Amino acid sequence: MKSILEFKARKPAGAKISMVSAYTHWEARFLATSPVDCILVGDSLTVVLDGDPLTFAATTEIMARHTRAVARGAGGKLVIADFPFLAARRGVGYAVDCAAELLRVGANAVKIEGVDGHEDVLAHLVQSGVPVLGHIGLTPQSIHALGGYRVQGKNEAAATDLVRQAHAAEAAGCFGLVLECMPPEVAREITAAVGIPTIGIGAGADTDGQVLVFHDLLGLNPHFNTRFMRRFADGATVVADGLAAYAEAVAKGKYPGKKESY
Ligand code: KIV
Repeated sequence: MKSILEFKARKPAGAKISMVSAYTHWEARFLATSPVDCILVGDSLTVVLDGDPLTFAATTEIMARHTRAVARGAGGKLVIADFPFLAARRGVGYAVDCAAELLRVGANAVKIEGVDGHEDVLAHLVQSGVPVLGHIGLTPQSIHALGGYRVQGKNEAAATDLVRQAHAAEAAGCFGLVLECMPPEVAREITAAVGIPTIGIGAGADTDGQVLVFHDLLGLNPHFNTRFMRRFADGATVVADGLAAYAEAVAKGKYPGKKESY
């Protein structure tokens, strides 16, 4: 998938969208030659790569650096870069500068968490030619306000409010919407209610697509366990076995061999 036009066309066609959060050039190169549709340079990179507990440490500079590396390896696939913590809350001018930086280094679009109170920023970016992917439900940048990593929209009022936010994101011009951690029936209702594709994570199977983090879906992080997680490979074992084999070969003087020496 190379553009947001292809992304949007998937919904009426009833064809699902696969998205992966990735942060480095080599991850992007794996994704470039895979059937995965598009790449999100998520601010979760602070958690996954740096070991931070939260995503707050991501800055425009950090997001731009990783977006550049991913875009160079993405083989022309659609690359969406996360807006960092509070970047959409500092006014339209600040948001334009942030979007400019992320698109200059190779992003095709940006993702912005939340809608309420920055609808003007979403609309201004879209009208300026910057495609914006919305993100509602469990928005990690608002984790303190949400009281922790909790499933959102669990009662009727909260579910109705998520539907309202989804409509607001669509009205602002978002080309798609990430739905994070909500009951499947709420995600299903939102997906039916809006004309833009929804991408779920912890939101059940009835969204227009799914997103998972590269390291999680490949089983590179055996310590990350959450209900929606599925490991599609046992990456941790592959890596551990490879490292053990290398260390053993060095210890026994079996590496390098004659063919590996000049
Ligand atoms: O930062 C991220 O990787 C994300 C996805 C998990 C949706 O926001």
